[in-house]
Amino acid sequence: MKRRHFLTLDDLDTDELRAVIKRASELKAIQHRGDRHAPLQGKTLGMIFEKASTRTRVSFEVGMAQLGGHALFLSPRDTQLGRGEPIEDTARVLSRMVDVVMIRTFAHETLERFAAHSRVPVINGLSDDVHPCQLLADLQTYTEHRGDISGRTVAWIGDGNNMCHSWMNAARLLDFHLRIACPPGYEPDTRFIEKAGDHVTLMQDAKLAATNADLLVTDVWASMGQEEEQARRAEAFTAYQIDEAVMACAAHGALFMHCLPAHRGEEVAAGVIDGPQSVVWDEAENRLHAQKSLLEFLLDVSLRG
Ligand code: CP
Ligand code: NVA
Repeated sequence: MKRRHFLTLDDLDTDELRAVIKRASELKAIQHRGDRHAPLQGKTLGMIFEKASTRTRVSFEVGMAQLGGHALFLSPRDTQLGRGEPIEDTARVLSRMVDVVMIRTFAHETLERFAAHSRVPVINGLSDDVHPCQLLADLQTYTEHRGDISGRTVAWIGDGNNMCHSWMNAARLLDFHLRIACPPGYEPDTRFIEKAGDHVTLMQDAKLAATNADLLVTDVWASMGQEEEQARRAEAFTAYQIDEAVMACAAHGALFMHCLPAHRGEEVAAGVIDGPQSVVWDEAENRLHAQKSLLEFLLDVSLRG
């Protein structure tokens, strides 16, 4: 079996990304019908969580169970990782026992070091740089509601964080335009800006970014690991809440997305996230289907299964 990792959306080419999203919707239909589809019988996913999680943990664990496999939750608190065992050694050991590994960590480099020493595929379950699994679900969600996202305009309003970076990668891979409105000092990393090229426009005005956009997206103002910056960030981001007035600037039929967890009254008004244009619960559900599709792809079992 050819080993493939998924550390960033760029680990898939455009055709592969489209295929994974399409398959995610097929797997969703299979599960909604109640049909059994268990091609990963006997396979184990090792999941290392250095940060908290609700959706990522549950969707991977349930996804493996539905596919006939098994998932193992590993935290640094209860493993030798927390006592200083090198990530390279952990990779060598785990990848002789499990068939695929998911890691949620801080430094993206941790994932790269693990992957370099792993015999099995490694999936990024969120790093400080990117959150590619969330993008699989979000792209699936957009496609299910509105069709192909290519040629559309998406507005990211808020922090230039890991989710923003993954949207930038998606804009390039699926050829849509991404407007990013953030306060000065909170722009995305220049590495992602350079790579995204013409697919991305940076600005500071939330309403300008939202004007006639097909999709508005935001995320928390302080990500995991930035808790002590919360107060300073809340002040810097006051003009960046997606409220009804910002939503009203968007195109007719525009959607609202948020990867969750959300803070009503901060990055999004309750009336928007709980309103008719919000598809956040579909995004959350699609984490399950999109990652099942990814697992099938990486384990190369969809044809044999
Ligand atoms: N959106 C997301 O990754 O959620 P969790 O932090 O709950 O996994
Ligand atoms: N940007 C957020 C996403 C959480 C799913 C964080 O990294 O905490």
